[in-house]
Amino acid sequence: MKIDDYRFCVIGPGRLGSTLIAALDRAGLTVSAVGVHQEEDAGFGGGPARVRVVDTALEADAWWLAVPDDDIFAVAGQIASALPGARRSGRAPLAIHSSGLGSLHLLKPLHEAGVDVLCLHPLQTFPGDGKAEVLDGVPCAVTAWDEALATLGEDLAGRLGMRPFRLADDRKTLYHLAAAVACNLLVALESDAANLMSEATRREDGAALLAPLVKTTVDNLAARGPAGALTGPIARGDVATVRAHLRLLDREAPRVASAYRALSLEALALAAPRLDDECVRVFKSILSSETRP
Ligand SMILES: NC(=O)c1ccc[n+]([C@@H]2O[C@H](COP(=O)([O-])OP(=O)(O)OC[C@H]3O[C@@H](n4cnc5c(N)ncnc54)[C@H](OP(=O)(O)O)[C@@H]3O)[C@@H](O)[C@H]2O)c1
Repeated sequence: MKIDDYRFCVIGPGRLGSTLIAALDRAGLTVSAVGVHQEEDAGFGGGPARVRVVDTALEADAWWLAVPDDDIFAVAGQIASALPGARRSGRAPLAIHSSGLGSLHLLKPLHEAGVDVLCLHPLQTFPGDGKAEVLDGVPCAVTAWDEALATLGEDLAGRLGMRPFRLADDRKTLYHLAAAVACNLLVALESDAANLMSEATRREDGAALLAPLVKTTVDNLAARGPAGALTGPIARGDVATVRAHLRLLDREAPRVASAYRALSLEALALAAPRLDDECVRVFKSILSSETRP
C-alpha cells in the first residue's frame, strides 16, 4: 500500500491536527475531510469539508486521530461502528494516533474492524498555528505491530518532513517520560529560575533576562551533548559557590533547594571525570545532606 493511495481525514483540527492538515497538503497527499465532534462545527470552509466523526468513515480511508489522548479510544469506536457500511473491498484502511504515551491498543476498535493501525508521535511541541514547517527535521516515533506498517509509517513521516525512528509499543511510557522531563519540567525549572531572577533584580522580566542564556544552553546541549554543554560552579569544581547557593536556598526557597540538590548530583555525574576525587567527595557530601552546608 502506498501513501499516495490514501484519502486522509484528520480528526480534531486542534494544535497537532491543524499542523497535520497543512503538512499532508504540502506533501501533495489527499485530505478529503476534517473530523469534528460538534455538529455545529461541520460544514464547508476554506479547506476540506468538516464532517462529524461518524461520517468520516465514508469520507476517507486513512483516519489520523488528533484528538486528546483520553478521547482516542472512543473516537476509534465511533468510526469503527460506522465502518461496515462504508468500507470498500480490497485494501485495509489505515488509522493513526499521535499520543506519545498511549499504546496502539487505543485504536483497538478499528483494528478489530480490519483497519491497519499505526502510531506516529512527532517529538515536537505544537502551538496550533497550523504551519507545516514546524514538522521539518523533527524526530517522529513510529510504532507498529508489523514490519510493513512500520515501513509505511516511516514513509509517511518522511513525506511530512520528519525524521522517523522506531519505538516499541511497550516502551512508550518511558519514552514519554523522557520527553516530559525534557520539555515540561524544563519549563517548570525555568519558571523557578525566572522567579529567583525577578527577586534579585526587582524586575518583572526575569524570564526575558534569562532567555539568551537558556537559548545558548539548549543550542550547546544539541551540539555537544550534556557533558559538553555543562558549565558553571560544578563543572569548575567551585565548592564555595555551591555552598553559598545552598545556604541561600535552604533559607529562602526550600522547595527549590531540593530540586537544586537532585539536579546538581546529576551535574556532578557529568562533571566528575574532569574533577579531582576530593572535590567530587566534597560536592557529594554537601549535595546529599539535607542540612545546611
Ligand atoms: N500539542 C502538542 O504539542 C502535541 C505534540 C505531540 C503529540 N500530540 C498529540 O496530539 C493529539 C492531539 O493533541 P492536541 O494538543 O493537538 O490537542 P488539542 O489542541 O486540544 O486539539 C484536539 C482537537 O480534537 C478535537 N476533539 C476533542 N474531543 C473530540 C472528540 N471526542 N471527537 C472529535 N474531536 C474531538 C478538539 O475539538 P474542540 O476544540 O472543538 O474540542 C480539537 O480540535 C494528542 O494525542 C496529543 O498527545 C500533541
